[in-house]
Amino acid sequence: MTEAIRNPAASDADRVVIFDTTLRDGEQCPGATMTFEEKLEVADFLDEMGVDIIEAGFPIASNGDFEAVSAIATRVKTASVAGLARAIDKDIDRAGEAVRHAQRGRIHTFVSTSPIHLAHQMKKSEDEVLAIIASTVARARNLVDDVEWSAMDATRTPLDYLCRCVDTAIKAGATTINLPDTVGYATPEEYGAMFREVRARVANSDKAIFSVHCHDDLGLAVANSLAGLAGGARQIECTINGIGERAGNAALEEVVMALKTRRDVLPYECGVTSTMLTRASKLVSAVTNFPVQYNKAIVGRNAFAHESGIHQDGMLKHQNTYEIMTPQSVGVGKTSLVMGKHTGRNAFRQKLKELGYELGENAFEDAFNRFKGLADRKKHVYDEDIEALVDDGVAHAHDRMRVVELQVIAGTFGPQSATLTLDIDGMSHTVQARGNGPVDATFNAIKMLVAHEAKLQLYQVHAVTEGTDAQAEVSVRLEEDGRAVTGRGADTDTMVASAKAYVAALNKLMVKRQKTAQAMQLG
Ligand code: KIV
Ligand code: ZN
Repeated sequence: MTEAIRNPAASDADRVVIFDTTLRDGEQCPGATMTFEEKLEVADFLDEMGVDIIEAGFPIASNGDFEAVSAIATRVKTASVAGLARAIDKDIDRAGEAVRHAQRGRIHTFVSTSPIHLAHQMKKSEDEVLAIIASTVARARNLVDDVEWSAMDATRTPLDYLCRCVDTAIKAGATTINLPDTVGYATPEEYGAMFREVRARVANSDKAIFSVHCHDDLGLAVANSLAGLAGGARQIECTINGIGERAGNAALEEVVMALKTRRDVLPYECGVTSTMLTRASKLVSAVTNFPVQYNKAIVGRNAFAHESGIHQDGMLKHQNTYEIMTPQSVGVGKTSLVMGKHTGRNAFRQKLKELGYELGENAFEDAFNRFKGLADRKKHVYDEDIEALVDDGVAHAHDRMRVVELQVIAGTFGPQSATLTLDIDGMSHTVQARGNGPVDATFNAIKMLVAHEAKLQLYQVHAVTEGTDAQAEVSVRLEEDGRAVTGRGADTDTMVASAKAYVAALNKLMVKRQKTAQAMQLG
């Protein structure tokens, strides 16, 4: 038996449990696959940042997911580790096995409760689902003391039936009751009222912590989560950068900073260290290859940038004129050092710290060498260049394939050609290919070396900074058999950045193929 998480509802009504599902609901969204090592890195970071519960994956989904959840359960020092399970015995047993070695392990089991899901997806009656809830929650509770039960599509479930389900789950031993807005349909008033009603109507509701889990289809995920707190919920399920199914989940950084900045109207405490939020965002963006939109609240590049003359004038007179929180409170330091080819290790380390990075020795050496290479090619090395360079390194540290060399002949007379060397599992391979333009030639060369049927769905280039010597950051999205993956690459040469991005996406595709094959073996 694993030790249960402290029940904040019992002792400290204003403590909000932060349940991070970046590695489960976040990883579930198209293109956000993470490797085993990347998952461990994210989990370690979340634990250090003070997240209460890390939902590490869906153990029955594949051997890879199972291995990741059990490795995270074994290594995480403070947080509880949860494994997701459908309301099926073999799922629950597998999740129990995966979190067995956690200091605090949780099984999170869910079943649909809305009429539309019961009729079309489950093809079960209300009474049949009640019986399933009773037996599966009890089964989970036999394996761990900490069991979360979720009513999938709770916000489209009639209240009377939802209350019967919650009552059944608590009687069977659930310690947390999650009422998700699975389809992102609710408004804040409705969502808050649902918690108030369910808690008032279910006789034993004080035996469990209630949890919010909101999707962002209408852009209301964070607002709904906060409304759920007002309705009595004390756990928020969220993801870094708001990644997740479709439009994503409630963004952890937004939830945390709303609690911190508006304590006057949101009198709740949480244990997350807000100065680590920017680093968390960068790490997740780098390992998932999902860029963070520039104007994203809290962690976007422009979140603390003031462009208009009036705003700049106000800021110079007093910071509070246009800033409701300081950049430092989310881990963005004031930057002062000028970086160039004469910069030494110490200054570079200091700059990384200011930008919110803490790298291990090997990663630091690698970043430093690549920074020196960049400084040789580029007159001014801006903070954004360093961020692109480090993110690139973090994202590709565990890749099986790597771009070693690329030479492209481009110009008005075609066909253009590319000579490419890739390192694949430690062996160098070189080919030459032609194409209709330099990008086509480069991608054809990659296809000659790595056979695949994936279709290129998106190819996007943007300059990291201003100037003709700026680094190009390229994003590509590939799709194969319904599997979508994204890749990113940065370089002062747009063609090299393109090749890196395409190869990064292929690396992700390999991982996905492997996962699918394992899942098929499991049946
Ligand atoms: O959105 C949802 O309903 C979920 C459940 C599995 C909790 O992610
Ligand atoms: Zn979800």
